[in-house]
Amino acid sequence: MSDTELNRGLEGVTVAETRLSRVDGEAGELVIGGFPVAELATRASYEETLHLLLEDRLPSATELAAFRADLADRRIVGDEVHAVLGRAAAEDRPAMDALRMGAAAANLGTDAGGDEADARRIVAVFPTIVAAYWRYRQGREPVAPRSDLGHTANYLHMLTGEQPSEAAVRGLETYLNTVIDHGLNASTFTARAVVSTESDLVSAATAAVGSLKGPLHGGAPGPVLDALREVHESGDPEGYVRAKLDAGERLMGFGHRVYRVRDPRAAVLSTAAERFYDTAGDADFFAAAKAYEEVAVDLLAEHKPDRKLATNVEFYTAALLHGIGVPQPLFTATFAVARAGGWMAHALEQKSNNRLVRPVGRYVGETGRSWTPVDER
Ligand code: COA
Repeated sequence: MSDTELNRGLEGVTVAETRLSRVDGEAGELVIGGFPVAELATRASYEETLHLLLEDRLPSATELAAFRADLADRRIVGDEVHAVLGRAAAEDRPAMDALRMGAAAANLGTDAGGDEADARRIVAVFPTIVAAYWRYRQGREPVAPRSDLGHTANYLHMLTGEQPSEAAVRGLETYLNTVIDHGLNASTFTARAVVSTESDLVSAATAAVGSLKGPLHGGAPGPVLDALREVHESGDPEGYVRAKLDAGERLMGFGHRVYRVRDPRAAVLSTAAERFYDTAGDADFFAAAKAYEEVAVDLLAEHKPDRKLATNVEFYTAALLHGIGVPQPLFTATFAVARAGGWMAHALEQKSNNRLVRPVGRYVGETGRSWTPVDER
């Protein structure tokens, strides 16, 4: 690449071949492991989707039972992790900080089983870490994982201490499958860049958590829920949107680096949320969210006529997770619970056909400075 070609944000730069997911930003299509996202998200369990990513095929019934049991065996974290999570909760650290600290210690006390074992361990312990942190923040004891429950149901169980409803499990499972993987987004690229140095998968997961935390990536659904609450209460979505745009702020839950049409995951999650709210939630709240989406898309088109700003995944993530009862401070960490599967599959894929990630920067600093001793400056 010549010195004149500058790709800020690596936009449009292809850096790897992947069989894990294909994002078509113009058509608004997402394929995960060969399936359109809508089909996989609504039919698979999280374990089936994870198996698909790791092994490149759906498991047989026997394989699935063994895979589920193996993941369940890896869910427990040791006292040292609980100590860190308790401390993070006591200091009011955000959930993503607690997850980063917990993830860093995730393979303490386990046999060094290699990359496959690290990958499974990371995916298995993320829900335990997030739920334990949350229980500590509530001043309550953590709830031990239950090996008879699937990955998704067990996460809800550890958050609340109760048996989750079928509607909640199905809603959350749809969410986890929908966002498990999404091309070379910032956190996935981070994970791949870490293992490209022949570093390990736990390091990749820890770095990816840090990358996902930012509001331009995984941090948007919390602010989206604030917006949904506000417009539900005021009944004035237009006033809300105009005030934000006039203040030069971005509307969370809209716009995407790759999609120029509505994010296909928004459609999947909107349907899932609608189904959930119809049977088990506050249907009025959901109706207000849909009305807000319509107004926001129209006003964003007026605001930026040259840039198509459509609904992204985070918009209905907020509505769905809120309906299910996932606490708002855990929205991004719950995204990480899902995305951990994609990170680990990408890290293994990178390792299997590795090339050190090492872009170049264009130097725009000074040249030819001459040294002045400190006492003369
Ligand atoms: N609300 C208002 N304006 C927005 C916007 C939004 N949600 N998203 C982009 N824009 C505007 C930008 O301000 C920019 O305007 P400018 O040219 O006058 O500076 C223009 O549209 C182009 O935006 P750009 O920053 O080039 O887009 P990007 O590809 O870097 O950004 C996002 C993609 C996702 C970071 C961006 O759309 C955003 O910040 N969205 C809100 C946060 C969010 O929902 N994140 C979750 C992503 S899944």
